[in-house]
Formats: sequence, structure tokens, C-alpha cells
Amino acid sequence: MIYSRIAGTGSFLPGDPVTNDDLVERGIPTSDQWIVERTGIRSRHLAPDGMNCSDLAFEASRRAIESAGVAPADIDLIIVATSTPDFIFPSSAALLQSKLGIRNAGAAFDVQAVCSGFAYALSIADKFIRSGSHQRALVVGAEVFSRILDWKDRGTCVLFGDGAGAVVVEAAEEPGILASAIHADGTYNPILCVPGTVAGGAVIGDPFLRMDGQAVFKFAVRVLGEVAQEVLDAAQLTTGDVEWLIPHQANIRILQATAKRLSIGMDRVITTVDQHGNTSAASIPLALDLAVRDGRIQRGNHVLLEGVGGGFTWGGVLLRY
Ligand code: ACO
Repeated sequence: MIYSRIAGTGSFLPGDPVTNDDLVERGIPTSDQWIVERTGIRSRHLAPDGMNCSDLAFEASRRAIESAGVAPADIDLIIVATSTPDFIFPSSAALLQSKLGIRNAGAAFDVQAVCSGFAYALSIADKFIRSGSHQRALVVGAEVFSRILDWKDRGTCVLFGDGAGAVVVEAAEEPGILASAIHADGTYNPILCVPGTVAGGAVIGDPFLRMDGQAVFKFAVRVLGEVAQEVLDAAQLTTGDVEWLIPHQANIRILQATAKRLSIGMDRVITTVDQHGNTSAASIPLALDLAVRDGRIQRGNHVLLEGVGGGFTWGGVLLRY
């Protein structure tokens, strides 16, 4: 029987932190108090002009490959979860493969499931590896959401940040990834979307992120609770077996409500939203890498990852690290 396990993690945040007060200084009509009370966000990182999704993905991947103790040439599958790719095409995964100096080896493609993207990508990599078709995957969440924010809309622009996280997933004799589940319900697409596109050399429609915050909040808490239970049931475990919960870092109140619903204390929830803001598909692997490197997540720990995002999409992955 072939299983998959996480062999290494890495992450990257561009530039210095940008605090809530920095945003006020830049002329956004908000306050540190409003943002902290509503979201828990204190700062975020914003990529400078010219730094794109594949650049962030490259830095995070380099660290993940190094921590796995492998060489780039050992990777035969690259999946980048992103909604803010460098280009319409080629995929950021293909660009990343080139930046890593990997030539003509395996497959590389992007997954677009917004803030659930990393849960989707990890679930896909697990299935490829367990099928025997691929041996070692690089799974990345990388975003430059700052590029799709309307900086005149204070209701959304204060919530997001840029960054990347990556894991190396490889074939193993013992199970690392114990269960995964991914879902979508496209009828909810209007509550979180970027409803514009490019056609005929022009932007058609609205190219900025738009959100019905309260509708998103209710939806997110419900499905994060449901998908957590689904993967726990599939692995025949309970929340009591989970050492660490890593929900998508949208908002501290969503994290708290999810943890409460699952009867998991906040001391077992990895939280980065205060320092990173919402980095969409990057938020889960960024938090995972942080907690692995600071020693909270240890080999053998049960870790429950779960994401929810535009589409609407949602997913969970339960693993033994
Ligand atoms: N600073 C100051 N005031 C603000 C700001 C701001 N940044 N943004 C909005 N306001 C004002 C509004 O103008 C409004 O003022 P008014 O009453 O005078 O009209 C007031 O605050 C309330 O606005 P709401 O939009 O109703 O604010 P709400 O209490 O719903 O909080 C928030 C907004 C924080 C987004 C909330 O809806 C929420 O937590 N939603 C969850 C969604 C989320 O976190 N999304 C992240 C991305 S989705 C994902 O990752 C899955």
C-alpha cells in the first residue's frame, strides 16, 4: 500500500510588515482599533511591484525542498494553488518549475480554488502519490492578493496580505495524510468574487475583489465545522485526537467560532492572521511552516488543515505529521 507524507515545509513573506497604522498613514479611512476588533489583523506583508506569484512560490519552495532534504530534480509533480497567478498562462506552476531548474520532469499545474486552494492541492497530490503515478510532489499556496484589492474599498483592502507556503509530499509506507475531502457549491459565487476579466486587450467588468462579509462569515463557520467532522470520521478519529488545528486564516472571529464548534481550545489552533492578514491559498501552508519551525508541531502529531473560499469551495486534510 502506498501512502503520502509531508517531508518538508517552507514559507516566504515579502518585505517588512505593513501595520494597520501604516494603512491609515497611506490614506485609508480606517483605524487599528476597527481592524483588530473585527478581524484580529494587526499587520500584513505586501509584495513590491514586479514580485509575482511564482517569485513568492519559488522562495517558499526552496525552503521546503531544503527542509525535506531532497533536490529539485527529485520533484516529479508541482501544484501551485493560487488565484493571483503571474499570467493568464503559462501556469505559475510551470514558471516555478523553470525557476527551480527542473527540466522536463513530471507535471506542473495550478489549482484555482481561492482560499481552499491549498487543501484542494494537497488532496490532489495525495491522490496522485497514492495512485503510484508520482513519487514526490511540491505543493504550494502562493498569492499576491494586493494586486486585486480595491484600495478605495476599506471593507476589503484591510483584510488581505501576500505570501507563500510550500510542502514537499512524498510516497511513504506509513500514512501521513490520513483523510481529505474537498467540496464546492458554485451557487454561492456572488458573495466573494472578482467579477471582471480581460478580453480584446481591455478589462471587462470589475477587476477587484468584492465580498458580502456577513454572508461569507456564516458560510465559512458552517462548512469548516462540517468538513472537519467529515475527515475525522473518515480517519476514525475525534477532535480529541487532534493536536493542532490550522484553519484558513481569514479572520480571528471565524477561527474562534470554528474552534468552538469543534470543541478545540484556541491553545491548539495555529494563528497567523494577526501578522499575515488573509493570504488566501497561502495561509494554511504559511501557518504550518511557522508552527513546524517554532517546534509546536512535532513528528507524529495529528494536524487538521481546513480551508474555505470563493466559489464557494471548501476542504479539509487530516494528517499525521
Ligand atoms: N475601517 C473602518 N470602518 C469600516 C471598515 C474599515 N476598514 N470597513 C467597513 N467599515 C465600516 C462600514 O463602512 C460600516 O459603517 P456604517 O455602519 O457607517 O455604514 C461599518 O464599518 C460596518 O460595516 P460592515 O461591512 O457591516 O462590517 P462588519 O461588521 O460586517 O465587518 C467584516 C466586516 C470584518 C469583513 C466581517 O463581515 C467579517 O468578519 N466577515 C467575514 C468575512 C471575511 O473575513 N472575509 C475574508 C475573506 S473570505 C475568506 O477568506 C473565506
